[in-house]
Amino acid sequence: MIISSPAFTEHDLGPTMCAVKAAHCENLELYPFVTLYGCLPLESAGKTKRFRQISAAVSSICGARWRTSPFRGIKANTGLGNESGRVRESGMPAEDYWETLLDPEETLNRLGFQPALHPTAIELGCGYGTFTIPVARRVNKLIAFDIDASMVGRTQCRIESQDIGNVIVSNRDVVKMGYGLAPEGCHAVLLFNILHCDNPVDMLRQAALQLKPGHGVLYATHWRHDPSTPRGPPLAIRPKPENLLEWAHATGMLRAKSGPIDCPPWHYGWVFERI
Ligand SMILES: C[S@@+](CC[C@H](N)C(=O)[O-])C[C@H]1O[C@@H](n2cnc3c(N)ncnc32)[C@H](O)[C@@H]1O
Repeated sequence: MIISSPAFTEHDLGPTMCAVKAAHCENLELYPFVTLYGCLPLESAGKTKRFRQISAAVSSICGARWRTSPFRGIKANTGLGNESGRVRESGMPAEDYWETLLDPEETLNRLGFQPALHPTAIELGCGYGTFTIPVARRVNKLIAFDIDASMVGRTQCRIESQDIGNVIVSNRDVVKMGYGLAPEGCHAVLLFNILHCDNPVDMLRQAALQLKPGHGVLYATHWRHDPSTPRGPPLAIRPKPENLLEWAHATGMLRAKSGPIDCPPWHYGWVFERI
């Protein structure tokens, strides 16, 4: 969980503030970690009155003690909610390297995710925002989630630096907590490089429930099931194209629209329609 810009004023954080907007203090018991965060030097953040007030409030709720975190924030282990739903093998390599492995615009084109096709979209596991930014340019509103606070922070920074105003990035364990959104309200969901989770049918079902029946579209991509790929989860847990199809059908809410679609250099994708 990140607590940042809604909790701080511009004055608190200064002009270089680049922090996450969708942060809340409720449901604290669900979070193993709480991070107070802003893209500014820790020393100045630590001195603001508001920063001290918030950290004291969190400590009084859960008894957590704060420690500095590597990305210019302070972090507390709340000792609560430690059963993380983090997808196995979902850690990320360095951003520069990761982004040599994907062609987001071409992938979206190949999947048929055209500009103005979907008014709203949800992205689960936004990572560095590699797809978030091109998707944001193709929809009216995008809600992106990641369990990793540093990924949320990085995506938020990229959005702000490119003056993109239609994205909410939220630090949330979606596997464990769900999306926290009204069901059947969204036109598109993206599950990119995340379906190697423990329970992919549940992940697909949760995503399908967000989609408008008869209209919504789910886009899923994954690494090719091929030992020559330069990265990707171990082959033993890496889904094959036919797995994604079976799992989508097993939800009882999705049918294949197109796929498998080759998404060079290293991925394939499926497009499913919400029944
Ligand atoms: C392999 S990365 C893919 C990132 C992005 N979709 C892409 O293709 O560039 C998977 C991402 O999912 C996030 N993630 C893993 N488990 C999650 C969970 N339970 N809830 C939300 N995000 C999760 C990870 O932190 C990571 O950033």
